Amino acid sequence: MLKVSNIDVFHGQVQALEDVSLNVEKGELVALIGGNGAGKTTMVNTICGLHHPSKGEIVFNDIRIDQTPSHKIVGLGLVQVAEGRRLFPEMSVLENLEMGAYLMPKGRVGELRDMVYTFLPKLKERKHQLTGSLSGGEQQMVAIGRALMSDPKLLILDEPSLGLAPKLVETVFERIKEINKQGVTVLLIEQNVVNSLTLANRAYILENGNMVKTGFGKDLLKDPQVKAAYMGMD
Ligand SMILES: Nc1ncnc2c1ncn2[C@@H]1O[C@H](COP(=O)(O)OP(=O)(O)OP(=O)(O)O)[C@@H](O)[C@H]1O
Ligand SMILES: [Mg+2]
Repeated sequence: MLKVSNIDVFHGQVQALEDVSLNVEKGELVALIGGNGAGKTTMVNTICGLHHPSKGEIVFNDIRIDQTPSHKIVGLGLVQVAEGRRLFPEMSVLENLEMGAYLMPKGRVGELRDMVYTFLPKLKERKHQLTGSLSGGEQQMVAIGRALMSDPKLLILDEPSLGLAPKLVETVFERIKEINKQGVTVLLIEQNVVNSLTLANRAYILENGNMVKTGFGKDLLKDPQVKAAYMGMD
């Protein structure tokens, strides 16, 4: 479904990604793990068309997208929940959700909203509440719900557990698992190594702009090198 091949990405003079490759098959839940500054957000933003690689290529469902503008990429069904959420705090939960469906035919909005409420029932209870007055975890759910409103084929989540209390992290991860089970392919960016390796079919580890390891989530959980480098962070 998604194939990133040998990309280089620069921010001005700074090289953020060097010869990085990654692929995601239909139906998979794949994790991309790495510490602060490893290049995770750069990778997501490049896939979504906010940066363009100077080398390599990105193909999504047989369409080459590495030079495609971001708004066209959303239309292909590749949608991200950005780091830091980027919600509209002065708008209600429902209004934020509906923003996610702006590319959808009007007739489908109700159906998509009901689907989101099924996954994230709390959003239905809080639909008229101002989004800015929700807790951090609830806002994360709105961000995920808003992305689902565009009926994604591939959903990319950039550190959805960031800043959340452990209990909420668990809830967010459970919801992501359910969404994947219902057929949405997921690329999960995380620093929460244990949780994301447990959840993921496969994972990639990014360090300093280089892909250093890849394998099945459950194998990487037991990998001594991974344990030494990352388990301390959880
Ligand atoms: N707009 C930019 N201009 C210059 N350098 C940038 C820019 N954006 C990112 N970088 C640099 O690129 C590197 C990778 O950053 P990136 O945001 O992709 O990391 P990350 O893995 O998402 O980190 P975090 O976990 O902290 O979100 C960092 O060294 C960062 O300082
Ligand atoms: Mg980041």
